[in-house]
Amino acid sequence: MYNVNELLKKAVGILRESDTDTPVLDAELILLHVMDTAGQKTDRLKLVTRPDMAVGERIEAKYFELVNERSKGKPVQYITGRQEFMGFEMYISEGVLIPRPDTETVAERAIELAKEMEKPVIIDMCTGSGGIAISLAAAIPGSKVWAVDFSDSALECCRINVNRFKLENNIRVTKSDLFAGIMDEELIENTDIIVSNPPYIESGSIPELSINVRGYEPHSALDGGKDGLEFYRRITRDSVGFLKTNGILMFETGYDQGTKVRNIMEGDGCYHEINIEKDLAGYDRCIWGRKARI
Ligand SMILES: C[S@@+](CC[C@H](N)C(=O)[O-])C[C@H]1O[C@@H](n2cnc3c(N)ncnc32)[C@H](O)[C@@H]1O
Repeated sequence: MYNVNELLKKAVGILRESDTDTPVLDAELILLHVMDTAGQKTDRLKLVTRPDMAVGERIEAKYFELVNERSKGKPVQYITGRQEFMGFEMYISEGVLIPRPDTETVAERAIELAKEMEKPVIIDMCTGSGGIAISLAAAIPGSKVWAVDFSDSALECCRINVNRFKLENNIRVTKSDLFAGIMDEELIENTDIIVSNPPYIESGSIPELSINVRGYEPHSALDGGKDGLEFYRRITRDSVGFLKTNGILMFETGYDQGTKVRNIMEGDGCYHEINIEKDLAGYDRCIWGRKARI
């Protein structure tokens, strides 16, 4: 029978041979997950302070099966089924994009702007696992958030998260190809904020992404068309019919896409007060503007 220290040492050795940058963290997270699943729940502090803790054979076998999957490139979040976003421990499943810390820049700004509004109506377009919708609904009492995606895997994952954080009364999870399936009276010319982290990678660049991303994350969550801007064009054009005057359209953008998306919004002619904001690393990350009086 192994103890925790022996298991971790062996797993870190395997993971160091792979392309992960965080072999120790990955080894610990996977062990915590396997122990939890086997009813031997513990935490990272105990892994360090109680290295002699005994681990049953069933845990050991499952652990090395999952460590081997990680060593082949499977993201640790798909192995453990979790990722933290804005302080929420989100359920994540394969077939759904793993929420990124970059997106917190967008969620934080959306929350700040929504706080100035009375019971805002919000659309999180391309919601994925639902992180933006959940952080907005939890931060803004009285808000009504529509979480929209067209992927069944994303919608199932989003529903699990909405239930996990008991936001069923505030978030409506809806299947739609962008706006086509949400022509609802509650939304048309009555929406306060449309926020979206759409697919924005140029189709031709997808083969250059790391194996962790291109081999495991859904291409429909990544592929933004030939120039990466297809979704910005469609969402900018279609949002006009849904936003109130002065309502806000906000996007996450790729690190070098701020000016390109500004050109799309300005070119549309229906938006004003357009702002580009940088993330903590100093890259373009969030753009937002208001619908002009038409
Ligand atoms: C970059 S992911 C963002 C997910 C999530 N908002 C996040 O930040 O983690 C883009 C999402 O857009 C969804 N999507 C792609 N095409 C779509 C479409 N035509 N209509 C609705 N959703 C779409 C994908 O299923 C995916 O969940």
